[in-house]
Amino acid sequence: MLTKPNMLVVDNDVAILNKCNSLLLSRGFQVSTAESSKEALQILEKYHRDVDIMLLSLELPGLGAMSVIEVLKKTKSKILVMAISTDCGEEAIAAIHAGAYDCIRKTFTTERFWTKIDRAVERFTLARQLEILKKQRLSILKKDSYDEDTMRTIMNTIPEGLIVTDHHERIVFYNSKVADLFGLQGDAALGLPIEKTLKNADLVSFITESMNLSRSGHSSVHQKVGSIEIEGLTMRVLINSIESDDGKTIGSVSMLQDVSQKKTMDQLKGDLVSMVSHELKAPLSALLMQLSVVLDGLAGDITTKQKDLLGKAKQRTKRMIALVNDLLDLRRIEEGKAVVEIEPLDLGEILHRSIDIMTLSSKDKNINFDVKIVENLPLFSGDRTGMEAVFVNLISNAIKYTSTGGRVQVELKKSGKDIRIKVVDNGIGIEKEDLDHVFDRFYRIKTEQTKSIGGSGLGLYIVKRIVDAHRGTIYVESKAGKGTMFIVSLPLEK
Ligand SMILES: Nc1ncnc2c1ncn2[C@@H]1O[C@H](COP(=O)(O)OP(=O)(O)OP(=O)(O)O)[C@@H](O)[C@H]1O
Ligand SMILES: [Mg+2]
Repeated sequence: MLTKPNMLVVDNDVAILNKCNSLLLSRGFQVSTAESSKEALQILEKYHRDVDIMLLSLELPGLGAMSVIEVLKKTKSKILVMAISTDCGEEAIAAIHAGAYDCIRKTFTTERFWTKIDRAVERFTLARQLEILKKQRLSILKKDSYDEDTMRTIMNTIPEGLIVTDHHERIVFYNSKVADLFGLQGDAALGLPIEKTLKNADLVSFITESMNLSRSGHSSVHQKVGSIEIEGLTMRVLINSIESDDGKTIGSVSMLQDVSQKKTMDQLKGDLVSMVSHELKAPLSALLMQLSVVLDGLAGDITTKQKDLLGKAKQRTKRMIALVNDLLDLRRIEEGKAVVEIEPLDLGEILHRSIDIMTLSSKDKNINFDVKIVENLPLFSGDRTGMEAVFVNLISNAIKYTSTGGRVQVELKKSGKDIRIKVVDNGIGIEKEDLDHVFDRFYRIKTEQTKSIGGSGLGLYIVKRIVDAHRGTIYVESKAGKGTMFIVSLPLEK
């Protein structure tokens, strides 16, 4: 129950002062009085907390009422000010502007007085209630007042699934999203091992792997582990290990996020790109062949001008074919198919064939090829399409980024337990700051020299992903203006 507000009446007109005082006392209010603004300020300074509503005459001599109102404003006081004035005119308006709540005329009747005071009291009480509510809410949000129920309510309102385990991989907490996903009733699953409760082998192994990683000191940071399928939904799983102050793994927190919609969109986009690329590949190849036939004079004589134009059309068609191939490779890799089929491969033979195709298409550039392929190399277990993509991309880059008449060296040999492919050119080279990025997706270096050279910036990204999938490494060394060397090492034993 809120107590009655305490009153302070400030007026140098003693008749008014006494009238207010006695009226307020008659209704049980606690009242203090002051006859000047100075006295009022002294009371406020001393007993600020004991004053709730102030009846303040606007006709005080000396410092005046406004100075009292200013002080209240400055100190962000919650005291409600009710002005008293002869006519409640200009001064009253100014006082209300400055923060006073209302004005009572000095000629008030008892009835009028109470109408105004009742309203002021109501207003003050409301403000005080609001303040109390605010404080209560704040204390709920403060950590030390979180009780288990509050925590549970909060955890149940988030749209993600939450699972907490202890170091024995037993469930310590799960929210209602997880209960829905796995059909768990109430707290029934608490204390049980994850493999008994979370009926999803992928999720169980993600948590186990993540805990093992953390135990072996490998990772205590947030790990994006991947996605799982539950009840027709695709959920992204993020697992964080919980560590004690001395670094021991004491549990894990998993968050499950529904990404079904995003996955469908990504899938659709990817399918569209694949479909369009596939549909373009055959007509573009046919176009290239027909252009070559006309260019080579097999369909009749052509003028120099026609030859020039058709030559340009042929170059553009080649570029489009390269882009289509890149997009198809990219899609394959992003679907996790960097390696589709592992078979014993004669890399020498694949490299020979790739060079043949490349030299043929680069004959107008007059590149000097130096190819060294060590004979009788051991067979390499790998993916044929992937290996072809690695060779074609590295050699086509060497040709593309080397001026007419330049030199490209290709070497394939065994080095220790690896098969090593080296592609060296004496072309435009790569600046130091770009070297770290050439394997990024869609990264292309934009300079005067490269701006007329076509490409999508996907080639080296694809190469890197394929090499990674074969557990190999790729190394690049380059000097701007001098040339570039790429070395791919592929382990013979996995
Ligand atoms: N041998 C090289 N010499 C100089 N710069 C190179 C060489 N190989 C790659 N680069 C630079 O690295 C960038 C990325 O190469 P990447 O093969 O990924 O893309 P691209 O050749 O531009 O396009 P594409 O997807 O058609 O291969 C190129 O744009 C080029 O600037
Ligand atoms: Mg390239």
